[in-house]
Amino acid sequence: MTAGYAADSDLAVPPGYSALPPGAADEIRAVEEEIDRTEAAALILAGNAGLDPYQKITMLGKLLLFDKTLSVNRNQACVFCHMPET
Ligand code: HEC
Repeated sequence: MTAGYAADSDLAVPPGYSALPPGAADEIRAVEEEIDRTEAAALILAGNAGLDPYQKITMLGKLLLFDKTLSVNRNQACVFCHMPET
């Protein structure tokens, strides 16, 4: 067995750290699913013509904030940490 991170998991516990509290993994999964849903909805919107300039800017923001491909490992969107409401 090798030490360190599991290749397919964001939730691996680094040596010296305690495990996540109960329910945290489910909560993280729910947030990630919400992120995917929001980006999918924005992409559908992107295909629709007739948006006014304000709607276009809102949509661009969503696409960037919810896009995982901007991250180094292409697995984490900005919105995972940065709440759009705040
Ligand atoms: C893993 C969590 C995480 C992700 C993902 C993330 N950020 Fe951050 N970001 C932070 C933290 C934590 C800080 C505060 C760092 C500090 O103050 O030292 C920060 C700070 C910032 C700041 C500076 C804010 C300020 O008031 O100084 C900007 C701008 C920013 N992030 C943009 C982005 C963008 C754009 C993305 C996506 C491409 C992104 N972040 C993804 C955690 C994250």
